[in-house]
Amino acid sequence: MSAKTIPVQPFDYVVFGATGDLTRRKLIPALYYRFRAGQFDERSHVIGVSRSPWNDERMQQAAIDSVREHVEEKYLDEDVIARFASCFSYVHNDVTNEEDWKDISDKLRDDENIVRAFYLAVSPSLFAPICKYLKKGNYCRPNSRVVLEKPLGSDLESSKEINDAVGEAFCEDQIYRIDHYLGKETVQNILALRFANAMFEPVWNSAHVDHVQITVAESVGAGRRGYYDQSGALRDMVQNHILQLVCLVAMEPPSSDAANALRDEKLKVLRALKPISGDGLEKISVRGQYSSTRSGDVEVPSYQDELPREKRGSRTETFVALKMAIENWRWSGVPFYIRTGKRLAARISEIIIQFREIPHSIFDHAEGVPTANKLVIRLQPDEGVKLFLMIKDPGPGGMRLREVNLNLSFADTFDDRTPDAYERLLLDVIRGNQTLFMRRDELEAAWAWIDPIRLAWDQSSEGPQPYKAGTWGPTGSIALIERDGRTWHEENDY
Ligand code: BG6
Repeated sequence: MSAKTIPVQPFDYVVFGATGDLTRRKLIPALYYRFRAGQFDERSHVIGVSRSPWNDERMQQAAIDSVREHVEEKYLDEDVIARFASCFSYVHNDVTNEEDWKDISDKLRDDENIVRAFYLAVSPSLFAPICKYLKKGNYCRPNSRVVLEKPLGSDLESSKEINDAVGEAFCEDQIYRIDHYLGKETVQNILALRFANAMFEPVWNSAHVDHVQITVAESVGAGRRGYYDQSGALRDMVQNHILQLVCLVAMEPPSSDAANALRDEKLKVLRALKPISGDGLEKISVRGQYSSTRSGDVEVPSYQDELPREKRGSRTETFVALKMAIENWRWSGVPFYIRTGKRLAARISEIIIQFREIPHSIFDHAEGVPTANKLVIRLQPDEGVKLFLMIKDPGPGGMRLREVNLNLSFADTFDDRTPDAYERLLLDVIRGNQTLFMRRDELEAAWAWIDPIRLAWDQSSEGPQPYKAGTWGPTGSIALIERDGRTWHEENDY
């Protein structure tokens, strides 16, 4: 086995939006873990850029605070924290003002061996001006890269505008569009499970799979996040994370793990998605919005209660369930049911591959009936894989059939900490590995599929169905799957 931590080339990481929430909660802690593991050292620099009037010391202190707040205590090491913080510096600028750019160029090193990465953790309205000045000031060298954080548009047209603006300064193989789900260990594990084992691929098709379910449930609310109300669950979660999961489950085996081999196959899935538009939309789509509920002595507010007064009455959906179809040979007739929402009963993300019933049972005289096999890939929390099988209940008393699960819990099996998605993604940018980033055509194919659903909902006289906070969503989502004689997978341990 190769070493787990392969050092990367020294870099200058310029982070636009350095004083923001994402930098504090995700980027700095992720970099710290990688620094601590020895993947880079003080020869690499992180240059924070933002409009706040900070200086180098303030940025370094913010790095220290973020590490103390978001890194597990057992990984805190004063000497490492001090060395890590010394990598940080800061530029106070207004990126829309050309004059201010000189301060950034003063911080960048000319050495061609130093990889330059520009991380745009800012509003997409700033992508175009930033890229314009990056180009004008000759910041882009062959080993420069740009990293784009979502939202990458709000529909196909706006995503094209963003892609065009960024494409003026960078070529496609320098552009890293983040979907942080792709950086999650368990999401990458879908590839290992499917393509490093011989046993699944022969049954991974409509002859053996009855249907697929994907649930990405969150227990937190959304109304206090300013951006969410313009986005809603469809754009916030389905257009990116869930469609990417659908792609990884449904794609054909790529010929290699090269970035484009994989992305070509994902793109084919997106293009094979049956369009969902106005006609019959109610039968295959449900949107909801959480209402308030009481949990013991605590009143959990509704989405409306969380919004600022002027936004009350919003029809933004905080829950979506869809029945999707993939129109190709492998998946013809196999529905993909997906659901995602805020303030649901638990925080759970998982993929269920529900296999078909056995064709004929020989157990006429047995107790218990054979139940179809099921593979559950748990993405979070309690990452792992469970295979539900039928066995004979041990002991005398004749043949008694019982369902059990082979449970591969990652926490019980591996000692290692599960790294956060950003740890992998931030350094893949430096390595120049685009495998876990979305290509332009993928992003646009995803929007092309989402737009008609959004449009139909916007034009509909009906709003989202209410559901009580802390439940599994509106009753319509249960009906959506039960109409087909199926149920959502819910284990007792939720
Ligand atoms: C983000 C969404 O992309 O993903 C959030 O904007 C959501 O609304 C988050 O909460 C979920 O990510 P995770 O890693 O916590 O499942």
